[in-house]
Amino acid sequence: MIEKPHRTIIEPFKIKMVEPLPSCTHNEREKILKEAGYNLFMVAAKHVTFDFLTDSGTSAMSSAQWGAMMIADESYAGSTSFERFQKTVCDLTGYAHVLPTHQGRAAERLLFGVILKPGMKVPSNNHFDTTRANIEQSGAEAIDLVIDEAKDSTSMHPFKGNIDIAKLDSFCAKYQDIIPCGMLTITNNTGGGQPVSLENIRSAAKVYKKYDIPFILDVCRFAENSYLIKMREEGQEDRSVKDIAKETFSLADGCMMSGKKDGLSNIGGFIALKSDKWVSALRSSLILTEGFPTYGGLAARDLEALAVGLKEVLDESYLSYRIATSNYMATRLNKYDIPTMQPAGGHAVYIDAKAFLSHIPQHQFPGQSLVCEMFLAEGIRACEIGSVMFGKTENETFKPAAMELVRLAFPRRVYTQSHFDYVLEGMAEIAKKKKDLRGMRLAWEPPFLRHFTARFEPM
Ligand code: F0G
Repeated sequence: MIEKPHRTIIEPFKIKMVEPLPSCTHNEREKILKEAGYNLFMVAAKHVTFDFLTDSGTSAMSSAQWGAMMIADESYAGSTSFERFQKTVCDLTGYAHVLPTHQGRAAERLLFGVILKPGMKVPSNNHFDTTRANIEQSGAEAIDLVIDEAKDSTSMHPFKGNIDIAKLDSFCAKYQDIIPCGMLTITNNTGGGQPVSLENIRSAAKVYKKYDIPFILDVCRFAENSYLIKMREEGQEDRSVKDIAKETFSLADGCMMSGKKDGLSNIGGFIALKSDKWVSALRSSLILTEGFPTYGGLAARDLEALAVGLKEVLDESYLSYRIATSNYMATRLNKYDIPTMQPAGGHAVYIDAKAFLSHIPQHQFPGQSLVCEMFLAEGIRACEIGSVMFGKTENETFKPAAMELVRLAFPRRVYTQSHFDYVLEGMAEIAKKKKDLRGMRLAWEPPFLRHFTARFEPM
């Protein structure tokens, strides 16, 4: 650990391999943005200076990960890379069975394909988009039971990812027979990267046990959640993050993981389970769609990178720097009167664009206006999570999203403290002239998932 009392956040690593930071002029970006229909998903990465679109699959890997990739055993069946990967996952989770997949949503599709039938229900704090979509694809229903504080962006509740235990209990009592599994997403991405407390995970586990419902965790960001438990939960401050993570896993019956987040790898995921009840059906489905169960749609070198990443991510110097960055960004943005979802989450900062650009009505997409300005002014790419993504027009009536958020998700180990300071200087300038920002008009939209390809025009 880096010793106090220094205040500067330093990256707990040295840099051995670098790539150039793209940079364009304001005029060039103006042209690029116009050609992209004012949609940042349509902008080529080579034109983006600071890419905060996602923290998924964007990590910088360590020398140990690259080294492990070089000694991978690419045998089709029973490779030693799989053995190393399996041992790492089983040691960490305490589960007996592990099935690799190419990413998180493949794990979701496999598991739900095997256990869900139309009419069934799956409760969670909040399901992530792909989790919900995979549940609905099976004809079942994804139910969100997050605590009420999660819906208030100003609430300082330390664990806004918590599930409402009373609601969960009565839900399970009512639908026990049609709930093939119950879930929790840690941290809660949909709710702003907010952590779930250990106490809440223990209570949820008790409820699921009471109704004999298998408890499956979505553990994409398990290390960040465990670190936030250590920082924020009474009685947990003296435990190691690894110990907290192990207890978290022990409380559930299994987990689904996207290794592209806290696996510190660019691809990969898995399902891990305590019992063998679903394993044989899952293996058959895995062979049919992803690959043989000892590689699951990945190259063995990806399994190696993931196995090393799953250990590195629990390094507390790394986690302390990681969470300090999100905190620093949120605190500084707030200083410039840019409101963010409180408190800062683990992997991202969410700007409240509705409050920040209160002169732009929701049907003119304040979040989209902000992401365009951030790109124009500073080459920053962020993601609108508001009425572009979730709003609808039905019978010519506009139905806005509940919130107009702009997410800055931070790739792991990629940008330095001076990059973040540079971004903040740019954001301070945007805050000064926010009244000049104008709303956006939809020029074209596809029939579904419009945020990826829609085209806009400035008002
Ligand atoms: N669960 C959660 C909580 C996630 O955040 C994601 C992905 C997935 C599952 C699916 O994993 O991408 O490997 O298939 N979240 C990314 C994001 C895409 O940008 O938040 P995947």
